[in-house]
Amino acid sequence: MKIFGLLAHPVAHSLSPDLYRGWFSEYGIQDAKFELFDVVPEELEDFFQKKMPKITGLAVSIPHKETVMQYLDEVDDVAKKIGAVNTIQWIKKSPLDRPLLKGWNTDWIGVREALCEANVEVRGQRVLVFGAGGAARAVVYALIENGAEVVIANRTLEKAESVAADFRCFVVHWDDRETVQADIVVNATSVGLAHSKNDRSSHDESPVSENFWDAKKIVAFDLVYRLKMTKFLRDAAASGAHVITGDRMLWHQGKAQFEILVISSDV
Ligand code: ATR
Repeated sequence: MKIFGLLAHPVAHSLSPDLYRGWFSEYGIQDAKFELFDVVPEELEDFFQKKMPKITGLAVSIPHKETVMQYLDEVDDVAKKIGAVNTIQWIKKSPLDRPLLKGWNTDWIGVREALCEANVEVRGQRVLVFGAGGAARAVVYALIENGAEVVIANRTLEKAESVAADFRCFVVHWDDRETVQADIVVNATSVGLAHSKNDRSSHDESPVSENFWDAKKIVAFDLVYRLKMTKFLRDAAASGAHVITGDRMLWHQGKAQFEILVISSDV
């Protein structure tokens, strides 16, 4: 039996087990199971020493996407550039070698595919990105790779400047974010993130005011997925914007991850 799983904290409301179970059955894979590994940062080292040797492959989520890199033998170049890993797998360079632990990032593929399936062409378009964490870095990488002009706004200016130093993009002060004329707007902050499906009230917030959307016929993409129609997307839709929900990005990053971990696994 091959063990796959999600390494995160907390993991309680994760949608990954349902996605993986669906794909296991679609691909007729019977000798595999998907487990949730709820690991606090202080126990990460112990997890890699004791548990990881028994696990075939892992999805990694908040808050471990950056810190897991120190336990890997190899990190894929794109994941290095983004600075975060969300997929871990044992690989073998040749049959006699000992297995090595390698990390990838599929978040940027999720972003690219969610835009593509919505028929949104980013080449030559100006994209305003809110946020400068790991998720935002994957968004910026996907956009720059596909020829977009990216403007980034983040509450903490230094973090936006650090993203701009690593990728070819512009920075705007958080307080000036609503003055930017953009074709596509992406929320990669955690604003609007609800901790459960029923937890609307205290998390029903948007990184922009309702007025921002007035008469703007643009594309709005929210990476927050637990409430499909977040306030950010509801306000955008009300003004006629084309909206892309975060669950599409989640599905596509998961599918790319499943292909690495399960379909093309060589251990
Ligand atoms: P992730 O890995 O999902 O990107 P993260 O690295 O914790 O998570 O990043 C969260 C992002 O949401 C950051 O850009 C954060 O802004 P700061 O860099 O200033 O912390 C942003 N964020 C979180 N809460 C916010 C809020 N109330 N208003 C504006 N931005 C917020």
